[in-house]
Amino acid sequence: MASLKPLIEEARIAARVRELGAQIRAEHGDEAITLIAVLKGSFLFLADLARAIPGDVRVEFLGVSSYHGGTESSGVVRITHDLRGQIDGRHVIVVEDIVDTGRTIDYLVKMLGVRSPASLKVASLLDKPSRREIPVTVDYVGFTIPDAFVVGYGLDLGELYRNLPYVAVYEP
Ligand code: IMP
Repeated sequence: MASLKPLIEEARIAARVRELGAQIRAEHGDEAITLIAVLKGSFLFLADLARAIPGDVRVEFLGVSSYHGGTESSGVVRITHDLRGQIDGRHVIVVEDIVDTGRTIDYLVKMLGVRSPASLKVASLLDKPSRREIPVTVDYVGFTIPDAFVVGYGLDLGELYRNLPYVAVYEP
């Protein structure tokens, strides 16, 4: 029978997101920051991170699909919803739920890079470096985790578990 084993509890997530927000503001001075949420997995992280960064923060949404309901990535990134606003001249941070093989973020950084942002950084709640296939720079990492399939705090398995307030390892 499948089980969920708590990995990162709610209070630890909240404390780490506050730290990341303060670090991001400190590194950007008074500049306006555009957070680009990679849907759907980063929606809770984005909501908390946006509130942890004081000052001028704007939000854009990018719909991406790279998983198809299972626990293995298809390796193919598909844009399902593009940005509404322009990002040229803007300080942009792409907000991801997790960096696994690195394929998604590699694709997105290249795709957004040609739109001439003033700067382009990556924030990810989770990082699974042991699974990396493409080397990518993740500027702001919430937690580095071992090679396990995790759900909760936005991350899903077949659309389930996104609403868990903590991160858990899914054991089939
Ligand atoms: P990558 O392209 O392999 O780096 O995968 C990135 C995307 O795969 C993430 O944005 C997630 O949507 C999904 N993903 C990777 N690992 C997990 C996991 O452990 N749980 C849930 N989704 C995952």
